[in-house]
Parts: sequence; structure tokens; C-alpha cells
Amino acid sequence: MRPAVYITRKLPDSILQHLSGHVHIKMWDKENEPVPQEILQEEIREADGLLCLLTDQVDEKLLSGAPHLKIAANMAVGYNNIDVAAAAKRRIIVTNAPGVLTETTADLTFALLMAAAQRLVESSDFLRAGNWSAWTPMELTGQDIYGATLGIIGMGRIGQALARRAKGFNMRIVYHNRSRKPEVEKELGLDFYTDLYDMLPVCDYVCILVPYTSELHHFIGEKEMNAMKQTAVLINTARGGLVDEEALFTALSTGKLFAAGLDVFEKEPVNPDSPLLSLSNLVTLPHIGSASRATRLKMAKLAADNIIAVLSGKPPLTPV
Ligand code: GLV
Ligand code: GLV
Repeated sequence: MRPAVYITRKLPDSILQHLSGHVHIKMWDKENEPVPQEILQEEIREADGLLCLLTDQVDEKLLSGAPHLKIAANMAVGYNNIDVAAAAKRRIIVTNAPGVLTETTADLTFALLMAAAQRLVESSDFLRAGNWSAWTPMELTGQDIYGATLGIIGMGRIGQALARRAKGFNMRIVYHNRSRKPEVEKELGLDFYTDLYDMLPVCDYVCILVPYTSELHHFIGEKEMNAMKQTAVLINTARGGLVDEEALFTALSTGKLFAAGLDVFEKEPVNPDSPLLSLSNLVTLPHIGSASRATRLKMAKLAADNIIAVLSGKPPLTPV
């Protein structure tokens, strides 16, 4: 009998066909609604493999009811939705989708930086609301990007891809990372800061690109925002929990920071009534960092290939 794989969201047909050649698949057949946890708990009882998304909580309780499970393949580079220790205890392999989304996410991060700095969304809204009465010397003026200083927190693949883009804008690039990366520094001309609080005051832009863990909850909070320039722009395209949203609201509404861009939120989807959404100097996106067609297909294919490999007795391609 073919191994059984549960897929937690409707995926494109090409991916399903690819998987069906190797395994028996069952799928939560909705595209924009996560599978309820009770149903997942029920379905996982028979599953040898799980293809899951960042909206699924793969925790101790779920795994304890999965006697056959050999692999949980996350269709994301981040895997903070999975209790990796609980999986390891049961010898369940966890895989993520690194590499394939690096350039797309760096593109989106730079786009968000530009949108926040140049007040693009606010300016578009201004025009459409009929407020454009004349060309005006200081109206809707933003911050320059060319030649400014970019601070990158987290110099992984996406951080490096972002730095390559910033070089094209003649930016000075500084970074903070758990470990120093001398080769990357040399290749991209970066300056390393051991101490985050030494780096923040020199940055015109701060982009956070670290994986989320509970130790990094609210890594950027009031203290960090206070250390930044009043003209600075903060961008988060990693995970919402890294930034203290209440502190960000205060910083943006009191002029302590010039602007921010968020692709991710502490709770997703963000509540449409959230005070954050009332701020004109905050650009908000619905977690679309990897959302090019080609990249999303590559992420799904990589998750599928990890499952096929493990369930046919081969090593996973991208274990966490
Ligand atoms: C998206 O947020 C991912 O982690 O891939
Ligand atoms: C981190 O997840 C990266 O790809 O940089």
C-alpha cells in the first residue's frame, strides 16, 4: 500500500499530480481557510506524511496522536509553528523550504522599505481621496534611500540577498547577527556590530530577518525603537512576534519613528480594527513575502519532494 499523506490546504494541481505518483493523498480542500485543529488531529492518525503550512500548529498534542507519522514538511522557510523537539522525540523528521524563496522575499522586503520611505501607499490614498490640490513643496515628503544606511538584523540567506539589492542603491550596510560572517562582510562590504544598541542609532533603515523563537519574542520593542533615529524606518518581513506592536504603535503615532512596513503580525490575519491600521505611516501587507507564483510553486514542490524522499526511505532534502 502506498503511504498516506495529509495536505493541510488546497494546493495547485501540478503539485498534487506530482505527489499522487508516489503516495496516497488526502487534502483539506479549501484554499483560503486553514484546516480546523480537530480535523487535523483526526486526519493525522492515519498519516505517514504531513504537508503543512505556517498556519498549522504542529504541537505535542497533535504529534502524540500521529502514530505513523514520519515527516512533517512545512511549506515555509520559517517553522516556528512546529514543535521540533516534540517531533524529534518521536523520530518524526521536520523539513522546511529554504533557498527557493530567498530572492522573492528580499525583493518584497526592499519593496516594502521603498514604499514606507517614500510614503507610496499614503500618497496613492491621498490622490484617490481627491486631496491632490496642487504640487506642493513639502507635502508627502519622505526619506531618501540612495546613499542611506541600512541595518540588517540577521545575516542569513535573505539578509544577504537584501544587502545585494541595497548595494545597487549605494547604501552603507551594517548588520547584527548571532555570529560574525567575515566572508559575507568582505563580499558585500558590510560593517558588523556585536552590540545591537551601537548599531541602531546609525541606521536610516532597520530590517529584521531572523527566524522567530520564543527567546526573540518582542526582540524589537520600546527600548530598541528609542535607540533608533526619529527619521528611521523599521521593516519586518520575518515573523510578527519579533516586533512589539504596541510599542510600534506608540513610536509611529508620536513621531518617535518616521515609518514602518510590516508584512507579518503578532496575530494573523491582523484584526481589521487594530489601531495599527489607522496609522498612515505604516505600510501593511498580508504576509506575502514569498508570494510570487513561481516561488510558491517551488516551495510546494520542495515540501512534496521532502515527503516523497522520506517515505521512500531516502534522506530528506531540507531537514531543519
Ligand atoms: C514565510 O513566512 C515563510 O517562512 O516561508
Ligand atoms: C532565513 O531563513 C534565510 O533564508 O535567510
